[in-house]
Order: sequence, then C-alpha cells, then structure tokens
Amino acid sequence: MNVGGARGIGAAESKLFASEGAFVFVADILDDRGEELVRQIVESGGEARYLHLDARRENDWISAIRTIEESKQKLNILVNNVGINDRNSIMGTSLADWSNTMESNATTMFLGIRSVVPLMRKSGGGSIINIGSTSSVTGTPYAAYSSSKWAMRGLGKIAAREFVAEGIRVNTVCPGFILNEFNEGQPYVEALRKSVPMGRAGSSDEVAHLSLYLASDEAAYVTGQDIVIDGALSMPTYVLSTFAGK
Ligand SMILES: NC(=O)c1ccc[n+]([C@@H]2O[C@H](COP(=O)([O-])OP(=O)(O)OC[C@H]3O[C@@H](n4cnc5c(N)ncnc54)[C@H](O)[C@@H]3O)[C@@H](O)[C@H]2O)c1
Repeated sequence: MNVGGARGIGAAESKLFASEGAFVFVADILDDRGEELVRQIVESGGEARYLHLDARRENDWISAIRTIEESKQKLNILVNNVGINDRNSIMGTSLADWSNTMESNATTMFLGIRSVVPLMRKSGGGSIINIGSTSSVTGTPYAAYSSSKWAMRGLGKIAAREFVAEGIRVNTVCPGFILNEFNEGQPYVEALRKSVPMGRAGSSDEVAHLSLYLASDEAAYVTGQDIVIDGALSMPTYVLSTFAGK
C-alpha cells in the first residue's frame, strides 16, 4: 500500500514497486492523478488499484483496509509519503497552520501504522517506510513542517520497537532536496541546489529505490533507522570544509 502514492516520490515508488511484481494499492486524495497512474501501471503489465484515502481521516483508513482485505491481497508493505509543506517560522505560524501541518504529516503516520498492523500480522510480517525529511536531521527553520518530521522520526523508532518481535520493520527515509512538484518553481530552488555539496537536487526515482530496498528481504535486519538521502546536504559544513581541496 502506497499512501500519497499518486504524485512525486510516491508516484515513482508506485511504478517501481509494480515493476518489481508488487500489487500496489495507490492511495491519495488526488483521485485523477491516482487513477491515471494506475492506468499507466496496468498498461505496462503491472498490477495496481487506486483507493481514495484522506490519510487524516480514520474512517478513510478503515474503508481502505476493508477494500484490501476483500481483495484477498496480502498486505506486507506500507509506504507513507503523505506530506504538506509549511515554510514559516514559529512567530509566523498560526495555531491553525501548526495543527494542519502536524495532522497532515505526523497524525497521518500514526493512523497509517495503527491501520495496517493487523493485516501485516495476518501476513506474517511486513515493512513500514515513512518518508520524513532532512528537516528532522538538521532542524530546518520551518516551525511546523520541521517539527512534524521530527515527530515522524520519533514515532518510527517507537513503532520499530513495538512491532519488532512480530516481524514488522519500521524505517524513516529522510530526503534532502528532491526536485519535483513539491518545490518546483519556488524562489529558493536555485539557492538550495547550490547548497547541496553534490551540486544537484535528488530525484523521486532515487528515493523510490531506497524505499524499495527497505521494503525488500535484503533489508531484513534494518529497522528503527532514519536513512538520509540528500547528496550530503545535512552534513555539517565543518566536516565538508575539512576535506575541501583534497
Ligand atoms: N520534494 C522534496 O524536496 C522533499 C524533501 C524532503 C521530504 N519530502 C517529503 O517526501 C514526501 C513526498 O513528497 P513529494 O516530494 O513527493 O511531494 P508531493 O507533494 O508530490 O507528494 C505528497 C503526496 O501526498 C499526498 N497527500 C497530501 N496530503 C494527503 C492526505 N491528507 N491524504 C492522502 N494523501 C495526501 C499528495 O496528494 C501527494 O500525492 C512528503 O512527506 C515530503 O514532506 C519531500
């Protein structure tokens, strides 16, 4: 199940996982994008189905899980891409914006884990992959967004511990600057690109391959981790300058 799977990193994962033989339930609020993506996956020989799911709504999770159960597909993988951005400081953030961002980014992860675990137990285990951010590594000055991503990191570790004995692994992927619709056209894009030591943005496909690894049996011993994919963006500059010119 790939939530927030209709666009960006999620869409790249939906395609990649389907090409690797997974039946992908693409869940999102972007119904037209999701339906079109599923059509493309099926046309190229993969298996997928679109589910409308507002990940902030518990009832939507209940009906999505019921649909998956009725389909008789096993549920072993949850990728959670759901995220909205809010680029404001503490003083520039209203309570309503704070609550909306925390609900969209962190509460959705809590609801997702709670919803899929019963089916993963029936499947004999699974892998939960949450797409966090380097905002929860360095502390980007976006009050609500960055805090919500720190909450995701924390919840990922708690979940990993809670379900480890049941064969359910939980990891957080922390991307840096990924150029897609999340930030295309924003005024900061060029400055951000220059600040990446690797000199370029990452792609949705590169993040999708990391998610695929974490979903696979090759990652059987990896759980409770925050895995950064950012072209060294989050490395302390003093470390980078130590190696400068060598
Ligand atoms: N693009 C970047 O530079 C970047 C960097 C770090 C982290 N991230 C994180 O990666 C994740 C994916 O982002 P992206 O870059 O693909 O951007 P995106 O905006 O294209 O993807 C977010 C997806 O989540 C969906 N979504 C939002 N609210 C939802 C809800 N309530 N219920 C269901 N679906 C919902 C959107 O419709 C969209 O498909 C996000 O969590 C984002 O915070 C992105």
